[in-house]
Amino acid sequence: MEEMTDDVPLPPARIVVGIIFNSKHKTDHEIPDLEAEYDSMDTVYALRNVFASAGIQTVLLECDETLPQALQDTHIDIAFNIAEGRGGRGREAEAPALLNLLGIPFTGSDETTLCIALDKALCKKLLSAYHVRTPRCRVISAEKDIRLGGLHVPVIVKPNAEGSSKGIPDACIAESEAELKDLVRRELQLYGGPVLVEEYIHGREFTVGLLGNGDALRVFPPMEIVFHKNTNGNYQIYSYGVKQDYKNIVSYESPAKLEPSLEKQMVRTARRIYQALGCRDFARVDFRLTEDGKLYFIEINPLPGLAPGYSDYPMLAEFAGVSHRELVLAVLSAGMRRYGLETVQ
Ligand SMILES: Nc1ncnc2c1ncn2[C@@H]1O[C@H](COP(=O)(O)OP(=O)(O)OP(=O)(O)O)[C@@H](O)[C@H]1O
Ligand SMILES: [Mg+2]
Repeated sequence: MEEMTDDVPLPPARIVVGIIFNSKHKTDHEIPDLEAEYDSMDTVYALRNVFASAGIQTVLLECDETLPQALQDTHIDIAFNIAEGRGGRGREAEAPALLNLLGIPFTGSDETTLCIALDKALCKKLLSAYHVRTPRCRVISAEKDIRLGGLHVPVIVKPNAEGSSKGIPDACIAESEAELKDLVRRELQLYGGPVLVEEYIHGREFTVGLLGNGDALRVFPPMEIVFHKNTNGNYQIYSYGVKQDYKNIVSYESPAKLEPSLEKQMVRTARRIYQALGCRDFARVDFRLTEDGKLYFIEINPLPGLAPGYSDYPMLAEFAGVSHRELVLAVLSAGMRRYGLETVQ
């Protein structure tokens, strides 16, 4: 038999991948962003098509009460986890914890990392121990506790544990304690708590994508979200509404126009955050940069959206010459390598 050399492409691994997801169920909610964090079936099918194009079989598994039985009835070699989970602060842990319990390998971060990242205040507290600069904040869980409590206005009001700008309307900035009361009350009524009140950082916005693990960790060049106009008064917020209508309000630039030293700092900080939180395979980190060059960590997404042509993570990879297909296969490969499984090309 001929020996394989590095320049001979490996045949696609004969594996079965279980795509674990939470799909959007309906689109006519009274609260339009109620299912914002969930994936559309188009994204799930796009992933399935990527795997099929590499000769990889897939099984689609919804992360709901049927998942435990489905995982026992269906053989999969590895799960490609994009599930946000059903409920509660620990919802993103549902699929990884179950997969760990059943001894099934899975891509992406483990349950602990996902839970910490989803709780924005907790994550900021942890990262401040690593000297990562992040806006000062307070967490409010009940109406009786609504106060600025020493924070400087303007402040932004957002759910403490949501993503996809769920609960972040254009009008989410308070310039006084009275405005804060109105905004937090609204947020508590619509989405429940806790609510994160954070000092608003005037400045440019960037997001940084990471791919891989250990020495093979790759940090993509920062992508700037360039606002063409203010989204509310004097403010620029990458809100739920802006994300729905992004083509008319923002453009994306990568590599971003940044002084080399600032770019280096952003990339280095993103890498440090990824490692500090024990992220695996992929993640996206959001930053704001003030005019005087102070970099602020806003939040990290260890399960960044993978919708082709829409989500920021595939977009920033595309700028770096990595197609959606390559990106998805690279995430799978990174996961497989961690478990010592044969990798795909
Ligand atoms: N402290 C802040 N100062 C200025 N702008 C902020 C701040 N926090 C949030 N924003 C704005 O609100 C947007 C959404 O906030 P954030 O990234 O925390 O929410 P998310 O719903 O988790 O987002 P994602 O869609 O990335 O999951 C940010 O992209 C930014 O434009
Ligand atoms: Mg964000």
